[in-house]
Amino acid sequence: MFNVIIVKDYDALSAEAFKVMKEVIDSKDRPVLGLATGSSPIGLYQNMIADHQKNGTDYTQVLTFNLDEYVGLPKEHSQTYYTFMHENLFQGIEIPEENVHLPLGNGDLEKNCADYEKAMEDVQVDIQLLGIGSNGHIGFNEPGTAFDSLTHIVTLKEKTRQDNARFFDPLGEEVPTQAITMGIATIMKAKKILLVASGSGKAEAVAGMINGPVTEEVPASILQNHPDVTVIVDEAAASKL
Ligand code: F6R
Repeated sequence: MFNVIIVKDYDALSAEAFKVMKEVIDSKDRPVLGLATGSSPIGLYQNMIADHQKNGTDYTQVLTFNLDEYVGLPKEHSQTYYTFMHENLFQGIEIPEENVHLPLGNGDLEKNCADYEKAMEDVQVDIQLLGIGSNGHIGFNEPGTAFDSLTHIVTLKEKTRQDNARFFDPLGEEVPTQAITMGIATIMKAKKILLVASGSGKAEAVAGMINGPVTEEVPASILQNHPDVTVIVDEAAASKL
């Protein structure tokens, strides 16, 4: 069930998303947040950091689980999602390192996937933040991913690698070929979903998610079957609704 909130622009989207996130954080003794990387959540994260600095919102009792991580990069590499999260959120809210979780992209990958899934089952995610790809992907679950998938290893599509090459080229490095992602079923276990999308490039995916058929060809369309989804979009991303 969707609660769709349409706002003017990215700043308004980020402020609105912050309200939803803060309500969950305030409502629990030990909130569990599912988090995302990418450009969509950065404004929300800036709001969380500003609020922490101004109002002292405490993150020492908060647990976080990220959607995905590249395979084969050292944790501290500048392009890992581990680094992205520390730079864009974790340092700014002073969350203890032992409270944050990302899939581990090194070592025994199958075991890492199973361990990650188990850790989330033990606590249950209170709110899962999502962006959406222009092809309807959520996490690294590209079109065609089974709706019953759990945390798993994915081979990145050539298009996705090309999209991300701009970050790796200056380092003289290749984009990794694989990643670990929460599966669709993993994402659906969260009590609440918060999806944010901005810009006309997302308009078709947003329309497909909300009004299209529920199909594995549009991974986000499965959210039609989730009981509590808040979608916050700017006018450009809402233009095909
Ligand atoms: C991020 C993730 C991706 C992004 C999506 C949108 O952890 O799993 O699904 O949410 O690709 O990316 P942006 O926000 O950069 O447009």
